[in-house]
Amino acid sequence: MELKDKIDKENLPKHIAVIMDGNGRWAQKKGNQRIFGHKNGVKAVRDTVEGAAELGIQFLTLYAFSTENWGRPKKEIDALMSLLISTINSETDTLIKNNVRLLTIGDIDGLPVTVKKNLKELIEKTSQNTGLTLILALNYSARWEIVNAVKQIVADNKNEPIDVDEINNEFFEKYLNTADIPDPDLLIRTSGEYRISNFLIWQIAYSELYFTEVLWPDFRRSDLHEAIVDFQRRERRFGKISEQVKKN
Ligand code: IPE
Ligand code: IPE
Ligand code: MG
Repeated sequence: MELKDKIDKENLPKHIAVIMDGNGRWAQKKGNQRIFGHKNGVKAVRDTVEGAAELGIQFLTLYAFSTENWGRPKKEIDALMSLLISTINSETDTLIKNNVRLLTIGDIDGLPVTVKKNLKELIEKTSQNTGLTLILALNYSARWEIVNAVKQIVADNKNEPIDVDEINNEFFEKYLNTADIPDPDLLIRTSGEYRISNFLIWQIAYSELYFTEVLWPDFRRSDLHEAIVDFQRRERRFGKISEQVKKN
């Protein structure tokens, strides 16, 4: 029996988020420059997106560039930005063919103009698609997102003091980049690192975490299937006790 057939179609994670890590190490292990790893990471992105779309996953968020990644050598940043542009262009047809809708989270205004322009075009071209929603986290970090939300709340309420009783989770979430996107059910991180690296801190409060040693460029839809099968063996209790959860 194939791994994919073990997946219960009635209990799919609605939203999967992925910290795509290990490109640099993958390349260095092969005696290549780090950017070679990023280039090969694109294949993993393609296969994962197709695999998720094929299963009927509704939301897939990929962490592609963090606000902290600006601290890398300029040569690597430049190469990553060029790769982003070429990938947007080369993958347009595949996204459309697979009925994928593209969204972004993160400080998109802080990206180079060409990246911004290409992203905007692809978002428009795919906006009517009804299958998988692919969310690229670019120039993203969770602390930036949360601070940005607070700034917007203050700006929106400049003229009238805000009613403290109005503030609750739902109120706050509307100001996050992920407003209207359900929280991830499953968070995957590749490359054997056991940390969150400033990704979706608010939204993963109750996500199931899955760590794999696989380096991102080697990640394929079969690895996604493995993560989903593992997810489906978990009991999500949300603070309750097992007996209560089983009743429903
Ligand atoms: C993840 O791979 C991709 C990005 C952060 C852009 P890395 O580039 O972090 O690869 P490692 O972790 O150094 O191997
Ligand atoms: C996290 O990977 C960011 C992305 C995958 C885009 P990093 O490789 O930047 O994370 P740290 O710095 O090792 O935690
Ligand atoms: Mg890394």
